[in-house]
Amino acid sequence: MKFFVDTADVAAIKELNDLGMVDGVTTNPSIIAKSGLNILEVTKEICDLVDGPVSAEVVATDAEQMIAEGRKLAKIADNIAVKVPLTWDGLKACKVLSDEGNMVNVTLCFSANQALLAAKAGATFISPFIGRLDDINLDGLELIEDIRLIYDNYGFETQILAASIRNANHMSECAKIGADVCTAPPNVIKAMANHVLTDNGLAAFLADAKKANIKIV
Ligand code: E4P
Repeated sequence: MKFFVDTADVAAIKELNDLGMVDGVTTNPSIIAKSGLNILEVTKEICDLVDGPVSAEVVATDAEQMIAEGRKLAKIADNIAVKVPLTWDGLKACKVLSDEGNMVNVTLCFSANQALLAAKAGATFISPFIGRLDDINLDGLELIEDIRLIYDNYGFETQILAASIRNANHMSECAKIGADVCTAPPNVIKAMANHVLTDNGLAAFLADAKKANIKIV
């Protein structure tokens, strides 16, 4: 499973990228607004840093404008994935932009039917939002399972990019189901390293090392 980082925090991306943990990056208008940075400038900086796809989202709502914005975003770098919302106009924009050879990430997916349409429209990635479904007492992971089944039934090449990841458990569950990619904030990726038994075990080892005066360098 590929790891995308869901942030525009360049320092955080760099730290994870240096560890080989970054296969791509996703942003959205809320993430860009929170960064306070210019979308074109910060996206370029991220594209220069990371080899994999970097999703940059359009803000128009009609197909024609989305296509114009998508073309402009795609000019930032070769590794841009244009992100469009899963609306009827978004699907039209997806088809045109993907036919032009761009990577397209169709976002705000909350149903298997939406994912089916995105695949038919030539999406490179479909982004089902797990956490936001869980927030309203639906089952985000079940949606990933359903999309995996449907895409495998028909050999769709659209990659399932599990998004709105809220905790480390989401990451391993998505990996078990067979999501192609998970995009998560840096703190969630770092939290995957945590286990209470690791902390307890290390504390005991260090106490014993101190007692025995073990020194290595
Ligand atoms: C990524 O592409 C999405 O925009 C992001 O994961 C949404 O996450 P949120 O639901 O935590 O805002």
